[in-house]
Amino acid sequence: MSQGFAPFYDVNRTYEDNYLQGPFGAFAEVMKGDSAAGASAQSAQTTQSQSSDQAEEFLGFRVNLPFGIPAGPLLNERFTTAAFRMGFDLAVYKTVRSRAWGCNAFPNVLAVHPKNADGSLVPGSAELDEGVLADTRYELPISISNSFGVPSRDPDEWQPDMKKAIAAAGDGQLLVPSFQGSRVDGMDRKAYIADHVTTAHLVTETGAGLMEMNTSCPNEGHNRLLCHDPHLVGEITEAVKNEIGDRPLIVKLAYIPNDTDLETMVRETVGHGTVQGFSTINTISARLVDANGNQALPGAGRDRSGVCGNAIRGAGLDMVGRLAAIREKLGFDFAIVGVGGVIRPDDYKAYREAGANAVMSATGAMWDANLAREIKETLR
Ligand SMILES: Cc1cc2nc3c(=O)[nH]c(=O)nc-3n(C[C@H](O)[C@H](O)[C@H](O)COP(=O)(O)O)c2cc1C
Repeated sequence: MSQGFAPFYDVNRTYEDNYLQGPFGAFAEVMKGDSAAGASAQSAQTTQSQSSDQAEEFLGFRVNLPFGIPAGPLLNERFTTAAFRMGFDLAVYKTVRSRAWGCNAFPNVLAVHPKNADGSLVPGSAELDEGVLADTRYELPISISNSFGVPSRDPDEWQPDMKKAIAAAGDGQLLVPSFQGSRVDGMDRKAYIADHVTTAHLVTETGAGLMEMNTSCPNEGHNRLLCHDPHLVGEITEAVKNEIGDRPLIVKLAYIPNDTDLETMVRETVGHGTVQGFSTINTISARLVDANGNQALPGAGRDRSGVCGNAIRGAGLDMVGRLAAIREKLGFDFAIVGVGGVIRPDDYKAYREAGANAVMSATGAMWDANLAREIKETLR
């Protein structure tokens, strides 16, 4: 990492330290209201709201530019508020649960170095099973692995914090809460569905106008994703939608390689009126190895981990393009949030051209806190 540069989520500190002390780098600066950076961010926000005639509509909300940061690196209100001040007009509050949930052991992030000259990882390729080199050499264009286990604070802590986060959105900005169900020992299908409903209800109590449900992390156990079971997602979203009423519901999906499976997902959700948008993709799972070919992340169940950043842009664009084609084919109306490997302004444009209504960047924004401003510059 270049000297003096600090991503707003500091990968060299524990999750807990990030939660309590973050954000860092430019996001920390912008939170110092009286600092030069803080003042310039405030004025950038003013400029933005002055040009709000160019604002776009996203799921019924007016947003200056439908670009932001997806679920994950914005751990709490201080992070989401800093993101807004830095010109990210969509900020997703990190996935919350119905109960406190611990984080995987440190380290949670490693730099990832795919073999391809362009640094890409292709879904289904042998490299994902044979092993991808992972270490602490963070280089641009940045690809990382993240292995957190979707930690959550207790609702008593996240509910008031999320409420504050929603209130801190500026003109033409939108806070999107993310949540997921928690599968615990002894829970049957009915109880698992009920846990989603409970969590969605807790989110509504914060005043949220919409929410995103994560089906793309290993919620179902080691390497098993809820989004690989479209019928269960259909059942869950029906129950959740009954609870949240008119508030739009977004489902976060992992990369789904097969068009038939993807179409089934759309029919089981949008087709029943329970889902208004998809956010995709999440990370691509790969076996991570160190320079000696040994497991890179310590501990049982961590031989594979999710890769994000530059490596997965091709997969993200492919998924968004196929989802847009299904939307067209079925004549359905739903929003697509394009995620995966957005590290430069051109990547924003590529996702919009592929059919995304909004675009988000996690890894790219972590390594370039000015990404939203740079995109806005290119669109002037
Ligand atoms: C530090 C970190 C934490 C993440 N945590 C979550 C999470 O809690 N819930 C979720 O739906 N996605 C999570 N993600 C996945 C991102 O939302 C996104 O789908 C993925 O990183 C691909 O985007 P990128 O290439 O821009 O990073 C996380 C990503 C990162 C980098």
